Amino acid sequence: MGDEADAANRLMRLARDIARHDKLYHDRDAPEISDAAYDALVRENRALEEQYPHLVRADSPSKRLGAAPTSSLAKVAHSRPMLSLDNAFTDEEVREFLGRVRRFLSLPADEPVALTAEPKIDGLSCSLRYEKGALVLAATRGDGNVGEDVTANVRTIADVPQSLFPGGGRGPGQRASAADAAPWTPAFAGEQEIPVIIEVRGEVYMAKEDFAALNARQAKAGGKIFANPRNAAAGSLRQKDPSVTAARPLRFLAHGWGEMSEPLGHTQGEAMARLAGWGFPVSDLLREVGSVEEGLAQYAAIEAARADLPFDIDGVVYKVDRLDWQERLGQVGRAPRWGLAHKFPAEKAETTLEAIDIQVGRTGKLTPVGRLKPVGVGGVIVQNVTLHNRDEIARLALRVGDRVRIQRAGDVIPQVVENLTREEQRDPYVFPDHCPECRSEAVAEEGEVDVRCTGGLICPAQRIERLKHFISRGAMDIDGLGEKSIVEFAELGWLHGPADIFRLKAHRDELIRREGWKEKSVDNLLAAIEARVGFDPARFLFGLGIRHVGSVTAKDLMKAFGTVKALQAAATGEGAEAELSAVEGVGPVVAEALADFFHEPHNRDALADLLSLAKPAAYVSTARTTEWSGKTIVFTGTLETMSRDEAKAQAERLGARAAGSVSAKTDLVVVGLGAGSKLKKAAELGVRVINEAEWAAIVTGA
Ligand code: IVH
Repeated sequence: MGDEADAANRLMRLARDIARHDKLYHDRDAPEISDAAYDALVRENRALEEQYPHLVRADSPSKRLGAAPTSSLAKVAHSRPMLSLDNAFTDEEVREFLGRVRRFLSLPADEPVALTAEPKIDGLSCSLRYEKGALVLAATRGDGNVGEDVTANVRTIADVPQSLFPGGGRGPGQRASAADAAPWTPAFAGEQEIPVIIEVRGEVYMAKEDFAALNARQAKAGGKIFANPRNAAAGSLRQKDPSVTAARPLRFLAHGWGEMSEPLGHTQGEAMARLAGWGFPVSDLLREVGSVEEGLAQYAAIEAARADLPFDIDGVVYKVDRLDWQERLGQVGRAPRWGLAHKFPAEKAETTLEAIDIQVGRTGKLTPVGRLKPVGVGGVIVQNVTLHNRDEIARLALRVGDRVRIQRAGDVIPQVVENLTREEQRDPYVFPDHCPECRSEAVAEEGEVDVRCTGGLICPAQRIERLKHFISRGAMDIDGLGEKSIVEFAELGWLHGPADIFRLKAHRDELIRREGWKEKSVDNLLAAIEARVGFDPARFLFGLGIRHVGSVTAKDLMKAFGTVKALQAAATGEGAEAELSAVEGVGPVVAEALADFFHEPHNRDALADLLSLAKPAAYVSTARTTEWSGKTIVFTGTLETMSRDEAKAQAERLGARAAGSVSAKTDLVVVGLGAGSKLKKAAELGVRVINEAEWAAIVTGA
């Protein structure tokens, strides 16, 4: 049952994340993750839904396709839905696909199944509708049922015939407007006539070279730089002004069809040849193959040709060749049973690990970073790679000088997937047992993988990271003081600990003379710092960066102790652990972290220094006294009308406490979409559960 609750939670997250990535990809043409990482999310979603069919959500990504169009282009309903394809990543999955096809058609074992295999173009699909030979409508896929009308834009694409002529080839006027296009001509003797209605479907894309040239032009003109050819193509096609599209080098490749007033042929191959005959570009790597093994061979051939192709492809598409079989196979969900996309694996590259550097974070965590001999992976030069922690280095048996295979998984963070020099006998890398920044001992607590520097505030790296935390948004949030300035001032020797922020006024004149600063900006900064002298003690406490003390816990502690000094006294006094643990929301882990922090001599000195300059106010509750005062409320699931932080703030204004987990002490659980384990726990404990609307009513006093 626990697993099931986790699955429900995970499905909720996946729905939300996939929807977000869909939006970034389709609407904004600005994806944050690679296609491979996106596919991994979709596969995880599918696997979980298969395992727990009753948990399939109404907003499940498996029920959607792409993102419904949201731009200001006119919407058009597709006469037949524009489908997607299921993905395979291994040969085995391709063979399984063929197995499913055979079973569905009840084919005898010796009956061959011919397929087509062709590149999967990384563009955006587009449907072109011709009536009586004239292009009348071009539409993007949109959500599969409703797309966007891009007819005027598509008319500017040279690859797209404006009008079709029986007997193949192009007639006059194909690049002029529809009004100028030659009228539909009935069949010639001996030549096949053009069906009254044809919808050709294919990819609009941008060639690699054209993409590079476009980006260079954009950079020069100070325009938008596109992340990849696909986004450039999408951004160029989905324009309100067709003259913008006309100036962009778009191309088109046909791979299928939608509504047809008469059949195109008996096989996929035959139909594609017919489209080519009418002047539609069709991939010259399209092959009809007699078996799945031949299909896999064509996959290998296409993969080998990939780098030399003028456009980006991300896999190979197989389709059952016989169209009567395609008809019988039909579709499942949003994908046809007769087609499959065999994707290329995530982009990998080999290089040398030239060094392992250790970075020290705010809490002293030592993070190993691999410095690589620069190498291109999927169009990006990678030089650094996170090695996560000591265990990861041991798992890969990494040593400086090793050849490594790296992969750009989530596009942004590359990782080492394999050590290629494993068998060589060399001394293993020794993870430091001292902090590289301050030489203090570095240790891993029992049961923890992370190794931490014990130097606390004497460690310069921790000091800078802590200073950054002290001024961060949830803490002191000083206007005009950002992370860059913190580093600048620390390098100048002006900042050692947080107290020095309140001493910056001594450097006023010097600072005014520095590049990027003016008298006004310096005085504004100093005034903003002064305004924080008597600041909210909870934010001050949170700003100290004590392990496990987040902003909610800091508030709980200040509510209980009133001042940081009183808290310090409690944390260092006799029976500290019991006294701290008595505070609502504080358990033994937090109590221990507090005791550790306040016992540490460096921290004590730094805090005394800080408190000699900053005088945080005593805690004043901004909460009203209501029937909810002192009650503990847990929010779980996705709230639709407010953010989680807003909901928590509302609870606090009612005098209640927002907690992160459900226990016997919880008074109320507010559930949003996709609530899982917490909801279950609340039910088990008999805690009152309400929905978002009921919560809103409590807040407004309705
Ligand atoms: S066939 C019924 N063939 O990939 C599905 N699609 O992931 C019709 N794509 O929506 C698609 N190259 O936009 C097909 N050679 C190809 C393709 C191709 C790219 C795109 C297409 C489709 C998506 C599915």
